[in-house]
Amino acid sequence: MHQELSSVPRGQRHATSLLQSCMWVAIAPLLFAISLHAQQSLSINTLLPQPTKLQASAGALPLTSLFTVASNAVRNPVLASATRRMLDEIEQKTSTQLSKTLGSETGNATLTITLTDPTPQRPTLETDESYTLNVTASRITLQAANVFGALHGLETIKQLVEPQNGVYVIPAVSITDNPRFPWRGLMLDVGRHFLPLPVIYRTIDAMAAVKLNVLHLHLTEDQGFRLESKRFPRLTEMGSDGLFYTQEQMRSVIAYASAHGVRIVPEFDVPGHVTSWLVGYPELGSMPHDYKIGRTFGVWDPALDPTKESTYKFLDSFIEEMAALFPDEYMHMGGDESNGKDWKANPAIAAYMQQHKIKSTDDLQVYFSTRVLALVKKHKKQMVGWDEILQPNTPKDAIIQSWRGAASLNTAASQGNRSILSAPYYLDAMKTAERMYLDDPIPADSKLTPEQTKLILGGEVTMWAEQVTQETVDSRVWPRTAALAERFWSPQNVRDVDDLYRRLEVESIRLDALGLTHISVPNMGLRQLAGSERGAAQLAVLISTLTPASFHFRYEQQKTSQLTPMGNVVDFTRPDPPLRQDFRLLVERYLHTTDAEHELARQQLESLFHAWIATRPSIDALALDHPLLNGVKLRREQLPQLGFLGVQSLGFIEAKSPPDPAWVQTQAVLLKQAAEPHDIVDFVVLPPLQSLLDASQQH
Ligand code: ACM
Repeated sequence: MHQELSSVPRGQRHATSLLQSCMWVAIAPLLFAISLHAQQSLSINTLLPQPTKLQASAGALPLTSLFTVASNAVRNPVLASATRRMLDEIEQKTSTQLSKTLGSETGNATLTITLTDPTPQRPTLETDESYTLNVTASRITLQAANVFGALHGLETIKQLVEPQNGVYVIPAVSITDNPRFPWRGLMLDVGRHFLPLPVIYRTIDAMAAVKLNVLHLHLTEDQGFRLESKRFPRLTEMGSDGLFYTQEQMRSVIAYASAHGVRIVPEFDVPGHVTSWLVGYPELGSMPHDYKIGRTFGVWDPALDPTKESTYKFLDSFIEEMAALFPDEYMHMGGDESNGKDWKANPAIAAYMQQHKIKSTDDLQVYFSTRVLALVKKHKKQMVGWDEILQPNTPKDAIIQSWRGAASLNTAASQGNRSILSAPYYLDAMKTAERMYLDDPIPADSKLTPEQTKLILGGEVTMWAEQVTQETVDSRVWPRTAALAERFWSPQNVRDVDDLYRRLEVESIRLDALGLTHISVPNMGLRQLAGSERGAAQLAVLISTLTPASFHFRYEQQKTSQLTPMGNVVDFTRPDPPLRQDFRLLVERYLHTTDAEHELARQQLESLFHAWIATRPSIDALALDHPLLNGVKLRREQLPQLGFLGVQSLGFIEAKSPPDPAWVQTQAVLLKQAAEPHDIVDFVVLPPLQSLLDASQQH
């Protein structure tokens, strides 16, 4: 059977699955294990990202302690360590003791890895990342042009391991896979809140697991300069609060990233967002302020002085130093949100503009970024910048990272500039994985010509750090970023949201096993907020229904700064938590099935609603001794009311007797109030409750 990946329309996936009685079948996620588990022999495709082509056949390779690996590239250290990691992880997952040697005798090995060119050890934008993987009942062959394609194949093998009939197997399958885009990135803002090395390392682990290949480090901000410069030591001595990476540490990060197929692209943001530079080197600034490390967030006035040759002399030397430290061919020089105020305020800069016929501060920024681009090129790098650097006369070799909207991506491409899309992928906006996933760098209705389309290199998810700390960052990044990893890797027509969530749930657990803290830290937070494990279990019922409010609402409420403590309820809620999708599917099942399935869904809904109702006395009691719970006082009151709405709607639907209009009116008001922003956390369960309320009136 050949199954091209197709996007089965939403809602039909489940029915289609039941028709395909063999092999690769998608099963809708079930809130609680139910009837479909009887079909033991099904293999469930949980690959994330989905491969370009997948052909399943009958049979499976059993995992036993006789499993061996051999390659024609045993001397490639990247391959040796990646193979070892794969074997360690499979051993852990299946509790099957495995031999950890990578042999060169490919004749009899269970897994044979063949590389066309065994030499490359560092990924580049041009690296061919494709691979083919064939699994039969007795052999696996993995072929790739180089080790970086092989790394992706090894990740796919790990994701294929599954239990079948009581033993762990790798199902027989033939995969041909390659990325849709060569630039599949994640940006971490380590400037506003410093993220220490363990965060960086585990982020790289997770990126490799989902085939992302660019870690963009936003290293400098008004609030902190986070990388040692030996030539300009005051940058970190005076601009970092002691929170920065040494060059030696950064070299280790780069080596670790390379060994995981990930490029490190550093960003030094100029000419704005530079307050931390100016604390130690005020002469670079446009005004003679008494510069201090920024604590509050926003767009600040300080900017490098673009009219002084000494500024370019400094940047020339700094870029030279950084170009030697970072092996990647690309260097990001920022360029965003420079408001021009300090430029206008300085009479010498105004005179310079007049003398050189520079009409606006935007044009002055073009002049500045053209000079910076020349310096970056002088040191053998290509420059990336935020979309402000794009003007009609921007040099064609600058790469534009589009953050204010997809428009600049297309403008860049039509001007002949390469570009990267980030605007829809701002994790701090707290949108659902679904919302972001459906935004495509090249949508089906794109007006670009095929030539222009080629200039779109891919996308980058961005984690701005105003409202995250080293504790909470993982839960903001994962698993939502895995959804976008699929957007950037898989064919454009892979867009089935239910199927995404089914696989995302599995991937989230795989990332948890890798050491990511997106599940463990929120759970730790519950125990801290509630002061006991029992209290945490009660609180979990409430927290599972909540998601952090949008960036802007939180900012307005909290006036969040670098000094704001971040151990409140909002910080331990998870963006797009699993209950949103699970509850939606459960209500759909209740409303659209009959007989046993309908009855089971009814029972599950009823217990859920009773659990919500029961939070009232338990959390009120907890809050007496745990005052941080008062931060969500309104949500604590609303959840039990939503539970009553649910139970009573079920009652009306089952009795086929419509409710009294006054009751409906009260519930409608409750839903409306529960949807209003408050307590800097939002409910994720409201639309399905509305569906139940609507259904209760249809008899
Ligand atoms: C940005 O969000 N200022 C690039």
